[in-house]
Amino acid sequence: MRNTIIILVLIAIIGCGKKETETTGESATVQLRSKADAIVGMYMKELKGELMTAMQDGPANAISVCSEQAPMITEKYSQNGWTISRVSDKNRNSGNRVDEHQAVVLALFADTLQKLDHFDEWLVAGDSTFVFYKPIRTNPLCLKCHGTMENLDTEVVSVLKEKYPEDMAVGYESGDLRGMFVVEAKTVSGVENLLKAFSDSL
Ligand code: HEC
Repeated sequence: MRNTIIILVLIAIIGCGKKETETTGESATVQLRSKADAIVGMYMKELKGELMTAMQDGPANAISVCSEQAPMITEKYSQNGWTISRVSDKNRNSGNRVDEHQAVVLALFADTLQKLDHFDEWLVAGDSTFVFYKPIRTNPLCLKCHGTMENLDTEVVSVLKEKYPEDMAVGYESGDLRGMFVVEAKTVSGVENLLKAFSDSL
């Protein structure tokens, strides 16, 4: 009997020790991860749609659509406590440059042996922030504007020069790591609220 009580007490203590906090626990992480992945999916689908339509009038014309639409779509999906962005180590827009920490995460995706599908983590500095990263790789369509110099239309080269004089986002081949999506959620508003966001469109 005494042993049973001791065991029960031990189970209770171990159980408590493992208890997850509401905001950073494993179950919250799993839910936020799938929500973040869904936000990336919606963002990608919308931008790709805009890009495909714009490309019908040629890539040089599509550049302006891309430079106007991409920030608008970013804004559309950055709400209710969530933010989404696209970053790169060889950025076209200087506002899309990786910071020091993101550069380390991006290097994880550069490892072609492991081929990570995504990565996420909790950054706890002040508020707890859940951060989800997903690699962006190129396909043949992307090379019209991000390919090697000899493969770019001269018109594309001149529009890029004019709009993005500091452009670094060229020289890619199909399948290359172009950058990554970064989805962040500050749990200051509570995990529950975050999970409700976008529920209509998911
Ligand atoms: C019509 C030309 C065009 C095509 C095609 C294109 N992009 Fe871009 N891309 C741009 C422009 C212009 C920007 C800068 C947008 C801005 O100012 O925010 C950009 C920015 C990006 C960025 C953000 C980082 C940065 O460099 O500023 C990523 C990531 C990206 N493109 C990936 C892709 C991928 C992947 C594809 C193929 C699916 C693709 N792009 C196809 C023109 C294009």
